Amino acid sequence: MSVVTIARQGDIATVTVDNPPVNALGLALRQGLWDAVAELDADPSVRAVVLICAGRTFIAGADVTEFGKPPVEPHLPDLVARIEAATTPWVAAIHGSALGGGFEVALGCRFRVALPDAFVGLPEVTLGIIPGAGGTVRTPRLCGVETAVEMATSGKPLRAPKALAAGLIDAVIEGDLLDGAVAFAVEAIEKPLPLPVSAREVTAPDAAFWTDAEKAVTKAAKGAAAPARALAAIRKAAEAPFTEAMDFERETFMELRGTEQAAALRAVFFAERAAPRPVALREVEPAPLRKVAVIGGGTMGAGIIAALRDAGLPVTLIEQDDAAVERGLANVAKVFDGGVKRGKLSEAQAQALKDGVTGSTVYAALADADMVIEAVFEEISVKRAVFARLGEVCRPDAVLATNTSYLDPRAIAEDLPNSDRFIGLHFFSPANVMKLLEIVPTPETSARTLATGFALGRMLKKIPVQSGICEGFIGNRILKRYRAAAEGLVRRGVPIADIDAAMRGYGLAMGPFEAQDLGGLDIAYLQREGARASGQSVPETLGDILVRAGRKGQKTSGGWYDYVAGDRKPQVSTAVAELLAAQIRPDAAMTAAEIAQTLVAEMAAEGQAILDESIAASPADIDLVKIHGYGFPRWRGGPMFANRARG
Ligand code: 3HC
Ligand code: NAI
Repeated sequence: MSVVTIARQGDIATVTVDNPPVNALGLALRQGLWDAVAELDADPSVRAVVLICAGRTFIAGADVTEFGKPPVEPHLPDLVARIEAATTPWVAAIHGSALGGGFEVALGCRFRVALPDAFVGLPEVTLGIIPGAGGTVRTPRLCGVETAVEMATSGKPLRAPKALAAGLIDAVIEGDLLDGAVAFAVEAIEKPLPLPVSAREVTAPDAAFWTDAEKAVTKAAKGAAAPARALAAIRKAAEAPFTEAMDFERETFMELRGTEQAAALRAVFFAERAAPRPVALREVEPAPLRKVAVIGGGTMGAGIIAALRDAGLPVTLIEQDDAAVERGLANVAKVFDGGVKRGKLSEAQAQALKDGVTGSTVYAALADADMVIEAVFEEISVKRAVFARLGEVCRPDAVLATNTSYLDPRAIAEDLPNSDRFIGLHFFSPANVMKLLEIVPTPETSARTLATGFALGRMLKKIPVQSGICEGFIGNRILKRYRAAAEGLVRRGVPIADIDAAMRGYGLAMGPFEAQDLGGLDIAYLQREGARASGQSVPETLGDILVRAGRKGQKTSGGWYDYVAGDRKPQVSTAVAELLAAQIRPDAAMTAAEIAQTLVAEMAAEGQAILDESIAASPADIDLVKIHGYGFPRWRGGPMFANRARG
């Protein structure tokens, strides 16, 4: 079947695009639209054309799978120009998302109408490129430079009502989109037509605007190259004639398409879309998830409950006693109240989210739960006792999950009847924000239970990644190696502050030592002490020396750094230098690039060991873990991608 079909309703023609899954602008679609313009231009009975899409969305953009290959005619900028020059006005009828090239096609149309819940946007920078078919040149002609800069440099889409207010679309259609778009077209052709977008004026801001914008964009980009280039393209659009700006945009687009950053971001884009639906589970029916319970309403439990509520699930919270129930519910309420403060939620929405949580101390309340997630203290005896109770009260087919960070899930489920329904679901703090969900099956976990873990990940809009069982699973195991390697550099005389600065310069939000000061050094210390107490040989770390001296991080007198009361800014510490002096044998002067390269190589080496042991299924999974759980810069593609790219 053709990806483009034409129909006529009186003197209005309808061009329907049907190119699943997202109507991406591959060659067949570009050619189909090109031919449609030619056919309709040749038909004098047609007075307007409505461009509409079948399926879940309007045209979602260029076909990203074509980006590795040489471009083939008809090129997208030519197609957009062809639509713009059509003899009758085209009306883009948008549902779902008109993104990137899809939005550029809509900009070639004389009018744009959209359903209220539709989005328009220029997400190209999230793929390491800039718009390549007039997005940076036509958009400011519709909504002004400021909004265009915001859209093209952040990549964030606008919902239809905002797009209407900004002048990007001409009407929001309530009810049936096609009927509404046809009615809009019938009315529009009775009035004088507006100029094509390319012929409209754009007002150029003064030089100070560009200086400020460049500073802000570069800061927000944290090392990603594309946003500043998108800004430059919009500046060109504001200051140069249309065709010159189009050439500039296209050149920049073609250049960026071939960069390492674009390759990295494309790899992440596809990995993120593959992760929630592992091929091996495609045929496996997950358990229905209508009612979920969480045991423990502390830091993690509250965050998990918030995530479940955001997905619309009613939740039961079980705590140890009434006071703990109250504390747990208050922890959850704090999350939603924060949403109100930040303007993300109305009071009523927050209240509805809170009302969906029932606190209890009675395990019998779990009799009808489809899934229970345990987030109690990280102590094997406490967790075992919880699962013993769950084994008694839950339905035999209810999925039972642990959020343990380091304990062996097999040991937690040792006495559980029907242990095929047991699984590790490792959330990251704050659990309602962090996208990563490590899914840890035991040898007994059934395919149905595993599929349910992934189904939950999809419901919560997480990036689920399967991990085998080892200490720390994928993410914390690599973190441990990274921290040890960073300590190794300190032992070789590399200043602590230089290491943190190097990793920030690399694109992480924080270096390894400032991050430990924020989270507290004592958790890992206690874990090492526990291992030592159980007879394991765990060499002394520099962190151990600091904790023993009372330096547990920001919450105490300091950690790797000193802190002035009320200020989170790390100050280089002479006390730390003295405490560690005997451990340091300076032999290395390293540049920031060498530091970052060394530490990323260490992460990748641990990642490779994890692959060799079949703990992770692919390097892409490891990269997703580090990007979505640990703030590894997305535009670097993750440690495995970055290390491979270095050769
Ligand atoms: N090209 C190729 N394949 C794409 C694609 C694209 N632009 N966008 C999505 N897909 C594929 C996905 O890989 C996935 O494939 P799979 O089923 O085999 O895993 C499938 O379409 C469905 O994607 P999602 O799971 O993301 O579907 P959703 O319904 O959740 O979301 C969407 C729909 C909001 C449109 C989302 O897919 C999206 O954001 N897509 C990317 C849009 C984008 O970045 N467009 C700009 C491209 S660059 C460009 O246009 C350059 C131009 O300026 C020249
Ligand atoms: P927390 O100490 O903040 O909360 C634990 C809660 O469990 C407390 O509210 C406590 O009252 C409750 N609890 C203890 N025993 C219970 C029982 N028998 N029945 C019901 N409730 C009980 O701990 P946190 O940080 O939330 O950690 C919970 C689990 O999540 C641990 O296994 C931890 O390793 C894991 N985890 C923690 C992360 C973090 O960043 N804090 C990240 C990922 C996992």
